[in-house]
Amino acid sequence: MAYRALYRIWRPQSFADIVGQEHVTRTLQNALKEQRFSHAYLFNGPRGTGKTSAAKVMAKAVNCERGPAEEPCNECAACRGITEGSVVDVMEIDAASNRRIEEIRDIRDKVKYAPTQVRYKVYIVDEVHMLTPEAFNALLKTLEEPPAHVIFILATTDPHKLPATIISRCQRFDFRRIGSAQIVERMKQAILAENIEISDQALTFIARMAEGGMRDALSLLDQALSFGGEQIELEDVMAITGSASQAMLASTARCIMEGEASEALNVVQQLVQNGKSPEQFLDDLLFYFRDLLLYKTAPQLEEIQDRMMLDEQFRELGDAFDTSRLFLIIEKLNQAKNDMKRASQTRIMLELILIQLCQIGEQKSHVVVQAEATSGGKMSSEEVEQLKQRINMLEKQIKQLDRGNVGRQEAAPVSGTRKEPRRTGMQQTVKIPTGRIREVASASIEPQLKRLRSIWPDILHQVKSKSVRLHAWLLDGRPAALSQDGLVVCFKSVIHCETTARELNKQLIEEVVKGFINRPVELFTLMENQWEEISSSVGVSEQEQGEDTKQEEAQSEPVVDEAVKLFGEELVDIKD
Ligand SMILES: Nc1ncnc2c1ncn2[C@@H]1O[C@H](COP(=O)(O)OP(=O)(O)OP(=O)(O)O)[C@@H](O)[C@H]1O
Ligand SMILES: [Mg+2]
Ligand SMILES: [Zn+2]
Repeated sequence: MAYRALYRIWRPQSFADIVGQEHVTRTLQNALKEQRFSHAYLFNGPRGTGKTSAAKVMAKAVNCERGPAEEPCNECAACRGITEGSVVDVMEIDAASNRRIEEIRDIRDKVKYAPTQVRYKVYIVDEVHMLTPEAFNALLKTLEEPPAHVIFILATTDPHKLPATIISRCQRFDFRRIGSAQIVERMKQAILAENIEISDQALTFIARMAEGGMRDALSLLDQALSFGGEQIELEDVMAITGSASQAMLASTARCIMEGEASEALNVVQQLVQNGKSPEQFLDDLLFYFRDLLLYKTAPQLEEIQDRMMLDEQFRELGDAFDTSRLFLIIEKLNQAKNDMKRASQTRIMLELILIQLCQIGEQKSHVVVQAEATSGGKMSSEEVEQLKQRINMLEKQIKQLDRGNVGRQEAAPVSGTRKEPRRTGMQQTVKIPTGRIREVASASIEPQLKRLRSIWPDILHQVKSKSVRLHAWLLDGRPAALSQDGLVVCFKSVIHCETTARELNKQLIEEVVKGFINRPVELFTLMENQWEEISSSVGVSEQEQGEDTKQEEAQSEPVVDEAVKLFGEELVDIKD
């Protein structure tokens, strides 16, 4: 049997199945009860929180042969047909891949015809913010006077990219991030059927990593299942997500506590050697300090009570830090996290922030420092010297960055405006051959891509038979473009993206894909946000593409300002 992802199997089929969005489902159900629904809805909210699912349930509820009812029966021909996608009157349009104005014009032309199989024509337009301005205009015309038998449901993660004229014509619903407890609950339901044990700690951790997105949670769970055997523990999940070990976090926290900057830099070194990403580490560290703060201020909290790492070391650290210092550290880490989103030299950023944090320690525990100074000092002069050297080197690197010498030898990561990260530490950029990917994007053959997507589960399955591990990484990926000689797969997690791109892994996947599509293609992997930018720039006009590419590559990185800002006053102090 072909493999099916958990999040597909667990797509909500009724309003009751939609977790954590009661404020939306209740209102929709009331409208259904009173038979007063509007002709255009806008569902906005973070990824994987139930927008498309709710839209499909709504489509069924209005068309159910036993309705319109507060819940679809899911048994009649209309309900079943809509679930299967065989009812032509209910159309799911992915604006991300059908951005062209013709597609929308097509809707406009056909919208006037009455539905043929069910009561209402329902157009679900996903990722509606991706439409071109022309397509928006065409859509607007349709929304201005929608026929009585038509309902539009527009879904987006980025409502601010929508023209106000569109928004004002829709009844708007804001989907929220889903609480950890509710995510855990749903995951427990999902694994009941599987013959697998997974610890509560592991589930809590997954829920936390998913940051309120149910799809992300279920995908991570999927990876854990295919990775971890019959008994899955916290450590398995951490390995999949590329999270830093607790020991590493604890020792970094200890360095910060004791103002041991050089020690902290060693941790970074080790981290990079282990192939972990600085972004992810920063995130993990942020959570660690957050937990320390919670432990101090609200130890009775359930979340802290069953905190997986409530071990001796954690307690000790919790007792050692004072609350105001924890606040300060969290604030700094948060700021650094924002800065890092725009930086390409993430390792340097991480090192700088750690040095800063170690200094907070020094400033705060002034008394201790003075005591040490009179007793000959805690740092040997040699250590101080080493630290100075390291800082000098960082300074130099930043100057180089300033002149644009570093980090642009290879194709530059796509820069520019980026939307809010979807999942902790997983929305960073990866070095990619922008030009080649553009080529593939603009030469993508839609019908073939469609077919590839439909057989993707089988491809995954075959990859799994060759490498369970690689399968676990690749599960995060989604085929985004397929040309004659190239395949673009985008990822949500940097770790998965980079690991899949390793030469041997890449070869293995290319080999499998070749078996399915009967020709060799080169595999390109990149992050979802990078893909978004590339595909939208390609989609606007294919003729402009050549010049566009050059422009993109010549763009500079905004890292310098950020790094220099970070570098500022505090480091000067160290030398005193
Ligand atoms: N609120 C929810 N309750 C239960 N399951 C959910 C919920 N939200 C998402 N899921 C799970 O995630 C999958 C994807 O959800 P859905 O497509 O509805 O999200 P979305 O908000 O449309 O995401 P995107 O913005 O990426 O399109 C569903 O099949 C389901 O398994
Ligand atoms: Mg959706
Ligand atoms: Zn029905």
